[in-house]
Amino acid sequence: MLVDTHCHLDFEQFDADREAVVERARAAGLARIVIPGVDLAACRRAVALAERYPEVYAAVGVHPNDAQELTPAALAELKDLAKHPKVVGIGEIGIDLYWRKLSLSEQVDAFRAQLRLADEAGRPVIIHDRDAHSEVMAVLSEIRPAAGVVLHAFSGDAAMAEAALRLGFYLGVDGPLTYKKNEALRALFAAAPLEQVLVETDAPYLTPQARRGQRNEPAHVQYVVDKLAEIRGISRETAAEATTRNAARFFGWEWRS
Ligand code: NI
Repeated sequence: MLVDTHCHLDFEQFDADREAVVERARAAGLARIVIPGVDLAACRRAVALAERYPEVYAAVGVHPNDAQELTPAALAELKDLAKHPKVVGIGEIGIDLYWRKLSLSEQVDAFRAQLRLADEAGRPVIIHDRDAHSEVMAVLSEIRPAAGVVLHAFSGDAAMAEAALRLGFYLGVDGPLTYKKNEALRALFAAAPLEQVLVETDAPYLTPQARRGQRNEPAHVQYVVDKLAEIRGISRETAAEATTRNAARFFGWEWRS
């Protein structure tokens, strides 16, 4: 049994063959798929897909590159959506200093508001951190979301991983684990406690090496699990079982499925 805890199945890249993508995910043994939101329209689409497919769940949130969308009305809508039985998290939220579409202070304001929302809703958070490691950790240390934190597509160094793991955060790992040049990332995920690792695809992006050049999709999470098993010297079954159990614990599926 496998899970993909982060994919954008609602994006238009899947419009032509979404049904086939879900079928291939089922055939690959995926028990759960989580679609995070990036803006309000995406959140609504994610919830609609969660209603349509039994294995699909949604998270709702406004991405730092779209933080101008987070008006009081939008925040109220997110609050409402967060009550949906298939909404299992708040995200993706955080800080992006690579694109820097909004100023750091605007991004931090939206980030804080959504962390508070997560605490009110009792939901864990999915963090987007691009070139903003210390800024993200500063906000998270100050607010400390109670229901859990995953650093999606973790890209920090060993010191940041250690600090995050000590705070009880989960590290999300995707296709880059399989890229030839990423020895440091592999060393980090070989050493991290397995119980704090979540596997993701970030589809349609971050396609694993074996499928590079193609659009990524949830079924490809198996390549991430295989690489995780290989670098830790454990079986594929052990890696799959552990990461599925982690996702169930993180998203509260023991009590909600
Ligand atoms: Ni994403």
